[in-house]
Amino acid sequence: MQFPDGFLWGAATAAHQIEGNNVNSNWWVHEHEPDTTIVEPSGDAADSYHRYREDIRIAADLGLNSYRFSIEWARIEPERGFVSRAEVDHYRRMVEACHEAGVEPIVTLMHFTVPRWFERDGSWRADDAADLFARYTEAALPVVQDGVRYVCTINEPNIAAMLAGGEDASNLVAYGLPNPDLHVADQLLASHRRSREVLSQVPGIRSGWTIATQAFRANGEPGSEEMLREYGYPRDDWYLEQAAGDDFLGVQAYTRTFIGPSGPLPVSDDVETTLTGWEFYPEASADGLRSAWELSGHVPLMITENGIATADDSRRVAYTQGALEGIHRCIEDGIEVLGYQHWSLLDNYEWASGYRPTFGLVAWDRETFARTPKDSARWYGRIAQANALET
Ligand code: NOJ
Repeated sequence: MQFPDGFLWGAATAAHQIEGNNVNSNWWVHEHEPDTTIVEPSGDAADSYHRYREDIRIAADLGLNSYRFSIEWARIEPERGFVSRAEVDHYRRMVEACHEAGVEPIVTLMHFTVPRWFERDGSWRADDAADLFARYTEAALPVVQDGVRYVCTINEPNIAAMLAGGEDASNLVAYGLPNPDLHVADQLLASHRRSREVLSQVPGIRSGWTIATQAFRANGEPGSEEMLREYGYPRDDWYLEQAAGDDFLGVQAYTRTFIGPSGPLPVSDDVETTLTGWEFYPEASADGLRSAWELSGHVPLMITENGIATADDSRRVAYTQGALEGIHRCIEDGIEVLGYQHWSLLDNYEWASGYRPTFGLVAWDRETFARTPKDSARWYGRIAQANALET
């Protein structure tokens, strides 16, 4: 199965999940609250803040031609209105390191974490949230203005809006359960649009947001179709529709969720599950692409995240093989897919679940930080190099 020329084969990460010591962020605060439900703090994480060159090198040596990473608002603007030039420079160097390694950087501006002051001042509910996000985007322009083609504004606004719906951070691991806060959804959309306006000053940048597509399915019982429409729309479909007119749309897909007449159902006992408790469902990517393509009115798509948490690396290979076959079928059907970013390059901090769910192609030692690519990393690298998948 040959993929289109220029297909972006990469892996994705997020700053808070790998950098370490993200002390000015709201997450750092929540990790250290006495009654936190987060199982462990992020601490040094994978120390990728200091080891990013090595990580980019590993991606390049594996044969990947792209790397999706996020830059941290809490570092760039640690206090309201103060922009740290040193941190902007840090992320510029990261982009340069990608270019030097022949790896296309795909930069995310906001991946769940925000500065402490932003949360203190009302977070996405604040009237000036979109102004503040636009101002941060301006501050980050030096990072992306030299040769970055793809910028993701906001990662999974649909999950962020659910978190803001009154549930605590542990729901980051329980996709789709809480009620979305529709005011926050509007604010996130306004922030995304303002950020895109700022980015459009730079010729050559294509910007979009990345949506968690959750493959909601009615379970067939009477009333389940109605519930599916009522339930799935504000959680997925609305966000995909809003991408109409964007330069591209990031699709993130992991599993599926069945909806019964009274809402989402737990995963049934007889299916294989992963370390996050999600159904092993490689078709999730293709499902996400098909609905994103339709709902966005044919905006070019990129799989910006897909993978599984497993201690059995051979299941990662099986899952990814299935995912890529499905993506290839989508391409054959005429859906424009720009690339595939596997989640994740490294084992990392899985939010409220801590370090236990291992999503990485590359493992690392918690004491020495020494990196060890897994067999799945080499397998995936060969596909990237061939730009083709064997079936
Ligand atoms: C989506 C999120 O963007 C990422 O931060 C998270 O680690 C993965 N999915 C896996 O849950």
